[in-house]
Amino acid sequence: MKNINNLGLFVGVFLGTVGFLNFREHIQQANRIQIKYDGSTAAVLGRAGGPGDAQRQKAGEDLEVYHFKPVEDVNIGVQTGHFFGSDFEGLQPNCTIGNTVINCRYGAAIDPATADALWYHIPSMGGESKMDKRHPKQLFIGMSMESSEYYPALDNKDFMKFFDIESSYRTCSQVPVFYFDYNAQQVAALFKPPRSFEEKKTALAYVNSNCGAKSGRSEIMKKVIGMKNQIVPTHSWGHCDRNMPVSDHSFDKVELIRGYKFCVAMENSITKDYITEKLWQALEAGCVPVYLGPHNVGEFLPDPEAIIDYSKLGSPEALMTELERLANDKAAYEAKLAWKYRKWEELSPSFLAMTERSHVRQPHSRCQLCRVVLKHRYRPQNFTTCLFNETWTQDYPVKR
Ligand SMILES: *[C@@H]1O[C@H](CO)[C@@H](O)[C@H](O)[C@H]1NC(C)=O
Ligand SMILES: *[C@@H]1O[C@H](CO)[C@@H](O)[C@H](O)[C@H]1NC(C)=O
Ligand SMILES: *[C@@H]1O[C@H](CO)[C@@H](O)[C@H](O)[C@H]1NC(C)=O
Repeated sequence: MKNINNLGLFVGVFLGTVGFLNFREHIQQANRIQIKYDGSTAAVLGRAGGPGDAQRQKAGEDLEVYHFKPVEDVNIGVQTGHFFGSDFEGLQPNCTIGNTVINCRYGAAIDPATADALWYHIPSMGGESKMDKRHPKQLFIGMSMESSEYYPALDNKDFMKFFDIESSYRTCSQVPVFYFDYNAQQVAALFKPPRSFEEKKTALAYVNSNCGAKSGRSEIMKKVIGMKNQIVPTHSWGHCDRNMPVSDHSFDKVELIRGYKFCVAMENSITKDYITEKLWQALEAGCVPVYLGPHNVGEFLPDPEAIIDYSKLGSPEALMTELERLANDKAAYEAKLAWKYRKWEELSPSFLAMTERSHVRQPHSRCQLCRVVLKHRYRPQNFTTCLFNETWTQDYPVKR
C-alpha cells in the first residue's frame, strides 16, 4: 500500500458500512461464477423477450477482424496497493475472447518495462504521480470504485489525462466497475416478489454506521427521527442514532429491511453515476427506498418510480408527508414495486444496458480489461476516458 493515509480514509469510510462485506462477496463470487455467453440476458434470467441477441451477434462480428492466436498472454502490472484481496493478482480464471484463451495475468511483480498495461488504483495514489510509458503500445489503466467527492483526483483532467482506460463506477468507463456487479442469480434476486403490504412494518428502516458522510445523510435522518407525531417512525439499526436493540452485529441487512414498507438508501457522497449497493439491496428487499444520490439515478433504475427521491422532496417534512401518503394508500404504494412483475423489455432501457454490462453475460472486469488490452495489441486505438468524453460531461462540471 503506497499511501497509508488513503487506506485509512477508505477503511474508515467503508468498513464502517454494513454493506461492505456483501460487496466484497460479490466481487469474489463474480470471479468464481462464469455464465456462458449465450442467449439474451432475459433468457438467462428466465424472463421473456428483451434485447441481447442482437448485441451478442454484433460482439461476435466485431471479433472477426482480429486474428487472435488460440492462446494469448496479457500481462498487467499492478502499480499501487488496492483493497481487492488475494485473488486479485495472478492468473484470472477462465478468461477467453471468442475461441481464444487469454492468459490474463495481474501482478505487482510483472516487469513494467514489458507489461502490456500498467494498472493503478486511483484512491491509493494521492492524486500525484509521474507516469511514463515504457513502450508505445503500453496502456495505463486507472481504477476506482470510490467517488470523486472523496477522491477529487478523479475530477482532475491534468491527472486523469495519463490514463488510457478508466475503470470506475462511471458509465463512460471503458470497463466499468459498477456496484451492480451482479451475476444472473443476483439479478434474478432483484425480482423476488416483495412481502405483502400488510405483512411489512409501517416504518422506515435505517441502517447506517458512517455517521459523517459528505452527503449529509446523517443530519437529514437525525431530523427525520426527531419529528413529532409520526405515522411512519424510523427504526435505526446502525451506529447513527440507533433506537433499536442490536445484540449481535452480524444481522443480515437485506433480510432485516425486507420486513419494512420503507428503507433508507442514501449514498455517502453525491456525484453523477455514483450508485452503490445500498440501492440494489433495498430494491432486492422490496422495501421502497428513500434515496439520496446523483441527479441521474433514474438512468440506473428498472423504473423511475421505484424510489422515493429525497432530493426532489427536499426536506424531512416533505419526506414524512410522502411516506404517510404511501402508507395510507396501498395502490400508490404497490405502484412503486410494480416493476418487479414487469416483462424484461418493459423495464427502463438504461437499466437493461447496465445489466448487459454486469456479470450476467460479461466476465469479471479484470478479464474484460485483458480483452481490451489484447484488442489494442492488434488494433491500436485512442481511448477517451470520462473527463474527455463530451457526451458524458454534458451534465457534469469538469473543473479543468
Ligand atoms: C473454469 O472453467 C472450468 C471448466 O468450465 C470450471 O470447471 C471451473 O470451475 C472454472 N473456474 C472458475 C474459477 O470459474
Ligand atoms: C462516452 O460516455 C458515454 C456514456 O455517457 C458512453 O456511452 C460512450 O461510449 C463514451 N464514449 C467513449 C468514446 O468512450
Ligand atoms: C490516435 O490519435 C493520434 C494522434 O491524434 C492519431 O494520429 C491516430 O491516427 C489516432 N488513431 C486512431 C486509431 O484513431
